[in-house]
This record gives sequence, structure tokens and C-alpha cells, in this order.
Amino acid sequence: MTKRIKTPETLRSHRWYGPNDMRSHSHRQRTQQMGFRRDEFMGRPVIGILNTWSEMSPCHFHLRDRAEAVKRGVIRAGGFPVELPAMSLGEVLVKPTTMFYRNFLAMEAEELMRQLPIDGAVLLGGCDKTTPGLIMGATSMDIPVIFCSAGPMMNSRRNGQAIGSGTHTRKFWDDYRAGNLSDADWIEIEGISSRSPGTCNTMGTATTMTAIAETIGFSLPGASSIPAADSAHPRMCSQAGERIVEMVWEDLKPSSLLSAGSFANGVEVCAALGGSTNAVVHLVAMARRAGIPLTIDAFDAAARRTPVMANLYPAGRFLMEDFYFAGGLPALLSRIADRLDLTAMTVTGKTLGDNIAGAVVRDEAVICTLDKPASSEPGLAVLYGNLCPDGAVIKPSAASPTLMTHRGRCVVFDDHAALTRGIDDETLGIDENSVIVLRNAGPVGGPGMPEWGALPIPKTLLARGVRDMVRLSDARMSGTHFGTCVLHICPESRVGGPLALLQTGDEILLDVPNRRLDMLVDEAEIARRKAAWVQPPKRFARGYGALFEQHVRQANLGADFDVLERGEPTPEPEIF
Ligand code: FES
Ligand code: MG
Repeated sequence: MTKRIKTPETLRSHRWYGPNDMRSHSHRQRTQQMGFRRDEFMGRPVIGILNTWSEMSPCHFHLRDRAEAVKRGVIRAGGFPVELPAMSLGEVLVKPTTMFYRNFLAMEAEELMRQLPIDGAVLLGGCDKTTPGLIMGATSMDIPVIFCSAGPMMNSRRNGQAIGSGTHTRKFWDDYRAGNLSDADWIEIEGISSRSPGTCNTMGTATTMTAIAETIGFSLPGASSIPAADSAHPRMCSQAGERIVEMVWEDLKPSSLLSAGSFANGVEVCAALGGSTNAVVHLVAMARRAGIPLTIDAFDAAARRTPVMANLYPAGRFLMEDFYFAGGLPALLSRIADRLDLTAMTVTGKTLGDNIAGAVVRDEAVICTLDKPASSEPGLAVLYGNLCPDGAVIKPSAASPTLMTHRGRCVVFDDHAALTRGIDDETLGIDENSVIVLRNAGPVGGPGMPEWGALPIPKTLLARGVRDMVRLSDARMSGTHFGTCVLHICPESRVGGPLALLQTGDEILLDVPNRRLDMLVDEAEIARRKAAWVQPPKRFARGYGALFEQHVRQANLGADFDVLERGEPTPEPEIF
């Protein structure tokens, strides 16, 4: 257990509120203007509640209420809670992709904490990019924080079958396009699929990242698995409010939690969960913020060692509510305890080992054993080859085993608009052995690597029952999606990666067992095409887009901005 080391006079907020001068008089005066009594905030830890609630973010729709639960806990522990709105980033409505704004949220979170008299913070998020965004910002700011996951939405059912978000929508869409669902079915499904606020309830990016956040020490034990609508959820938020006040006194900051071991634990749990491919990008970015070396190869190594044990869509057949009742994340962690660094520190002030002691698996159909995993295929594989010299990723557990080794002629689409226009064009001669390719969809090209990576299958093939094909792109894929989709091809085509040199008709060899992805084009021809390649002009002349284009890293490095990665500490603001 960590010890109290802060005093009221050494709190960060004391610099604003404490001195007996005109400026501090004004800070105190203006805080009282909002109806807060002097002794409600003086000498107490000021806790920022960074709330990503909005009415354009269904996954976070309940977070306004949850902020109240956090406040209860903060006040109970003697702190002063203040709610601060932060960019909401609802995955389902933000264009071109929330990934375009992850770094923006990270900057906002960091600077919100820096500019204000905040001693510690509770981070309310969960929809895909909000978890890494908030944690990246908090890691750079390095004051005590607890992350409260929004929690997954309730399960839904139709005709006795469970319906989970994302995964099923994609399956229903394929059935609808193939003519197997009526218009009435399609509209009915729209109304029943998402039954409550909360994040996607499959093992998508949200649930992967919130589980990773908990594993690397940022959340209370079990917090990430609690369904959004469960009454345990506000209780968890209240507990987080109470705990963050203690963390401020203990000065338990992200830099005291994060180690090579905690990140290795994050990678390991991603493998055991059959987590989203997006976790590769985010966790690498998070580690680089902490100055801890982590490469994409760690994910491949972990997935070879640890099979997919969470039997959840899209790789398995259950949903997050089932996972919660099966014991949730602590139960899964207890199953892989021998592969974890149990000494890694967490927000409880105890180690990960302490936190998961006594956790039990209550349903082995949902949380499987190492001997009888949920999938015979690994949760993730990292590929290299002449098409992806800096790497690419694929999720074999959510792909077709028969396509793990495949040779086929490619059909290349230059951008997403061309793909949408052309995919059903029968003159292209796409058959089930073809390899469909999308380029200009990476960090710079997308921009922001939109989740376009589960490229559509031509209608005529869908009608014939084809449900999977080999597909390649420099885009990402929603964690809820499935298919033999090679993603995050690095370097991306827009900056001149070999994907830019591919031509329709070239043969592709995908060899997942040997972790290879190659275009079967001879080197002289590749060199000729490279010499003839012309870089497309910059897309943005001004604004955030121009800043993004200038500073974003490639996917294998986490797609953070170069200027936001770890460096010399940022000075505290002058108080005057
Ligand atoms: Fe928010 Fe899936 S859309 S978590
Ligand atoms: Mg998603």
C-alpha cells in the first residue's frame, strides 16, 4: 500500500488557491461565484472529472449521471470535484473517423489538466478512441488519474439469437444485400440492436481498450467489465471518486503505475481476449507516451504464446454481459496469471497480483482454458514482406482458416470512393480467389486510418454465398468486424509505401503461418514503378487537418503526433 506524501500546501491546486495575493484572491472569489463555499475547495484535492458525454455519443450517453456518482465519492473522501467536458468522440457518428481526433482528445485532456488547478482526475470514456486518448493525455500530464470505463451496452436478441453491436450489423448487411432479409426485417433490426447506452458489447476496440486500461493499472479491479446499465456501474464510479482523492495524497501518478511489465501485461491480455487489431496502434502510442519501448512484434509473440480464451464475438459466440457474469476481466487475468507481471502497480495502490487474487471463472464456456481455447487461430498476427516492410496486422481468430495461405490476383481501388463505386462492377472480374485492395486509407491517406479495412464483398459473390475473401489495406478495421483482412500496411501508400506501387492483376501471396505478405512482382519492375510514383498533393492547406498531416506517425509507431511523444517535461503554467 502506498503512503500519503502530499499535504494541503503541496497540492498542485494550492498554487492557484493558497497564496494570499490578489491573483489567488480572485481565483477564490470566482470559484465562490459558482456557489462553492471556501472550505469546500480550500486545502482539498481538486478532482477534475473529464467527461466525454455528449448527445452524439450513444456509448457515453449515461456519463452525465455517472459524473454525479463520481462526485459523491470525491466529496465523501474530502475532495472537491469539478466536471470538465472533453471531446466526446462517439465512434458511430464522427467522420472521417474518431482516429483522426484521438490525438486531439489526448492533447485536450493533457492541456485541460495543465491549465486548471487540478490535483487528480477521473477520466470518463470508453468508446474506442476515448480510452487511449484520455490515457495518453494523462500519461503526458502525469498527475494521478483513474479511468472509469463507460461499460458495454446490454445484450440484445432476435429470434432467440443474441445480437451484438457491429459484428451482427455486418452479418445482417451481407444477408440484406444477398436478398435474405426483407426491408421490414432490416428496419426492425435497426431498432432492437442497441438496447441501452454503453459501448459495443462485442470484443471490439472499446472493450479491448478498456480491458487493457484496467490491466495496465488505470481502473479499479473488474471495472471495465461492468455493463453500462448495471447498478454496479455507478457504484464503481463512486468508488473511483473516493479512491482518486487518496491517490492524490499518495501522489500515485501514471509514471508510478506504468512499466515495461504493465505494457507486456496489456499485450498479453489483448491476446487472451482476442482483442481488436486497433489495440496494436493504441498500446504502442500509449507506451511511447510513457517512454517505454514497445513494438508491434510483441503482439505477434503474445498471440503465439497465449490463445484466445474469451469466447466473445467477433471471434467467439458470447457478448460482454456474459463475460461479466463469467467473472469478467479479473477472472480472465487469473487464468493467465503465470504469463503476467503480477508486481505491476495499479490505481488501487496494490499490485495487479493483489487485485486479481481470489478471482474465479464462473463459466468456462465464456472464459475458456489455455488447453481448450475459444479459437484454434491466434488472436493476432504481424506480417512482413515486400508489401509491408514495416509490418501489417491480421486477426486470424476472426478470419477464415482456409484463407490463411492464399495466392490470388489483386484488384486495386485507389481510394474509398473508388471502392464504393466499383466493388459491384462485374467487368472487373472479381471472383472468390481475387484479393481486394484499398489504398490511400492510412494515417495520412484516410486521413486517420478510417475503419474501412473490412472491404465489402461484391454483391454477386455474396448472392452465391461467399462471405469471406482476402482483403488488404492500410486502413484499420472495427474491432467488431471479421474477415481475412490484412490491415495497417506500413508504410502506407500515401507516403510511398509499396502498396502505392501495386497494380490490378498483380499476384499476391498471403502466408499467415509464415507471417508473410508479398506481391509477386519482380524487383526490377517494383523499382521501375517506384521511380515513376508521384506523391499526391497534401490534402489540407490549413487547420487541424494540416497539423495532423504534418505530425502523424505511421501505424506501426502508434499514429501519435511526433510532438506529443515523450520528451522533456512540459513546464507548469506561470501563475499570475
Ligand atoms: Fe462506441 Fe462501438 S461505437 S464503442
Ligand atoms: Mg469500434
